[in-house]
Amino acid sequence: MKRIVILISGRGSNMEAIVQRCTEQQWPADVVAVIANRPDAQGLAFARARGIATAVVDHMAQPAREALDAALATTIDRFAPDLVVLAGFMRILGAAFVRRYDGRLLNIHPSLLPAFPGLHTHRRALEAGCKLVGATVHFVTPALDHGPIVMQSAVPVLAGDDEHTLAARVLATEHVIYPLAVRWFVEGRLAVDHGIVRQLDGASQVLM
Ligand code: GAR
Repeated sequence: MKRIVILISGRGSNMEAIVQRCTEQQWPADVVAVIANRPDAQGLAFARARGIATAVVDHMAQPAREALDAALATTIDRFAPDLVVLAGFMRILGAAFVRRYDGRLLNIHPSLLPAFPGLHTHRRALEAGCKLVGATVHFVTPALDHGPIVMQSAVPVLAGDDEHTLAARVLATEHVIYPLAVRWFVEGRLAVDHGIVRQLDGASQVLM
C-alpha cells in the first residue's frame, strides 16, 4: 500500500475528496496523515473524525522559511510517505524541500497553468477577459505553481460570473481531477518524460 501525506492550510475540501475517493474506490493506498501549517485549519477536524493522524507545523512559530521547511520535512518523514499532496497548502516551499520530495510531490492550483500562478486567480482571469478557466494538478518544482502538468479541468466563463461563482465551479472540478491524478500516481499510471507527464493507459488528462 502506498502511503499518502496531505498538507492543508484551511478548508481542506480537496483533501476530503481524496480521502473519500481513496476509501470508496479501494486505491492501493492509505492517507496516513494530514498536516496543517495552521492550528485552526478546518480540514483537521474531518481528518481526525476519519481516524487519520494529524499534525500542525505552525508557520507562526517558524518565521524563517527554511526553519518551517525543515520542521515540515521532519513531521512528514515520520509518516514515511510515497506521495506528498499539497491540497490548498498556502506556504511557499523552498528548493531544498521540493528536491527532497522530487517526483512524489503534487499540487493543485485553480488556474490553467502556466497562466495565473499565485493568488486571486479567478479575479485575474476575469480581468483578463478569459473565456475558459480551470484547475491544474502538477508535480511541484521550486518555481511557484509550476511543474510537469498531470491533469487539467476546463471551465467556461459564463455571462454574469464573478470570482466567487467561478471559484465554486472550478472547485467542483478540482474535486474530480485531484483524486483522479492521485489515484493514477498510486497505481503507477503516470510517467514523466522530459517534463511532460503521460498517462500510461492513454486516458485523457483533460476534464472538459
Ligand atoms: C483550492 O481551490 C486550491 O486549488 C487552491 O486553494 C484552494 C483550497 O481549497 N490552491 C492554491 O491556490 C495553491 N496555489 P480546499 O482547502 O478546500 O482544498
